[in-house]
Amino acid sequence: MAPPVARDQELELHIDSLAYGGNGVARLNGFVVFVRRGLPGDTVRARVTKVKRNHAEALATEVLVPGPERVEAPCAHYPACGGCRFQDLAYEAQVRAKEGQVADALRRLGGLVDAPLEPIVPAASVFHYRNKLEYSFTQYEDGPTLGFHKAGRWDEVLEVERCWLTTDLGNAIRNTVREWAREEGLAAYDQESQRGYLRHLVVREGRNTGQALVVLVTAPGERFESGYLVERLRRFPEVRSIHWAINDTPAEATNLPTRVLWGEDSIEEELAGLRFRVSPNAFLQTNSEMAERLYGIAREYAALSGTQTVWDLYCGIGTIGLTLARDALTVWGIEVSEESVARALENADLNGITNAAFFAGNVGQAVEELLDRSGAPDVVIVDPPRAGLAGKALRRLGRIGAPRIVYVSCNPTTLASDVKVLRDEWGYELRRAQPVDMFPHTPHVECVSLLEQTGAPRAA
Ligand SMILES: C[S@@+](CC[C@H](N)C(=O)[O-])C[C@H]1O[C@@H](n2cnc3c(N)ncnc32)[C@H](O)[C@@H]1O
Repeated sequence: MAPPVARDQELELHIDSLAYGGNGVARLNGFVVFVRRGLPGDTVRARVTKVKRNHAEALATEVLVPGPERVEAPCAHYPACGGCRFQDLAYEAQVRAKEGQVADALRRLGGLVDAPLEPIVPAASVFHYRNKLEYSFTQYEDGPTLGFHKAGRWDEVLEVERCWLTTDLGNAIRNTVREWAREEGLAAYDQESQRGYLRHLVVREGRNTGQALVVLVTAPGERFESGYLVERLRRFPEVRSIHWAINDTPAEATNLPTRVLWGEDSIEEELAGLRFRVSPNAFLQTNSEMAERLYGIAREYAALSGTQTVWDLYCGIGTIGLTLARDALTVWGIEVSEESVARALENADLNGITNAAFFAGNVGQAVEELLDRSGAPDVVIVDPPRAGLAGKALRRLGRIGAPRIVYVSCNPTTLASDVKVLRDEWGYELRRAQPVDMFPHTPHVECVSLLEQTGAPRAA
């Protein structure tokens, strides 16, 4: 049957719920339309942007009747800025929607009608929670400025004066760099013409230590006097580490080798009573307060008693493994980024932890070698990127058959399909799962799950 809508058609739609990814869900005689900028309970006028066989996509152009949970967004840059999607939806409705999305993914993709889902843990701070932000430079008539990509635009950057996701310090550092760039008469890089100089600014904060790290990313060439930039930034006593990185490709990137302009090469953050060194490109959960909550749940699910061999796969700078080390016999971490592994090893030393080892490698390839080194794991913690456990990693983990897997996920859809494979092919049952909201006003949701091997594997 042909879809009942056509591209560019104007529709009046009632939004029932929020889909994973942040679009409103409306139904037109059963046919699903995903509506960007539609919130639950809204009646909107929407223009159809894409039509597929089973669903269509649309953009809300006018809210005809606002839903009951719409609120005033506090940020002056909302909704033009692409950083936040739901500042105008009451926070309780945001977390309810996220909890529903995890349940829905486990039901549809994981085949679990009645998943053992625990209530979502809401964020402790609804604003000012991020410990890292990456800004883009753009050229305004009166000089270069800094901000975020406009919602839905990769090619346009919106100047930001005050971002509600960072701290007063983070805002002040960004605005100081903007003033510095103007004083220096430097031009922002233009993606299209590939001309100009200033590209990105990264600001990281150790939220529990009060230390800050700044990375300026430019096109090639030494066109500024670093002493003056350092002088401006050192007016903030929190700034301990200032770096410069050169991006000589047209691609937008900030994950680049850096040169220290001033200070230490990294800063420290404190999580769960341990100190962690954080360098420009090393992975750290971007909400420190909720990372502690997330790790607390992982710790509870791991249920260690001091005798276990624990694997921390996709370990970043070792945060999860090191917070578990005092309750484990040994901890073994694998991480693809060598910079993060170097930090993880340093972090073990920094905290006097002697029963943890970390190795650089791709989980899919490295687990068999790890098995030879460590012996069979009792508990495997996995915290993969959004793509989840890639086929090889999943297969090899299934074959290794640890009695207990604690799966920390940032994507309920890949979590659900991995849970299905672990159950159907490797005999694991999902025992507990708890969503955690680390990123209010964005579509992201984390979830910690406990899987136990209860049956014999069907695959080999
Ligand atoms: C979601 S982060 C988790 C980091 C850490 N567990 C934490 O809580 O800070 C995922 C990590 O996996 C790493 N990674 C991505 N793909 C990988 C792979 N195939 N093998 C090993 N590590 C990988 C990334 O560099 C990143 O540090």
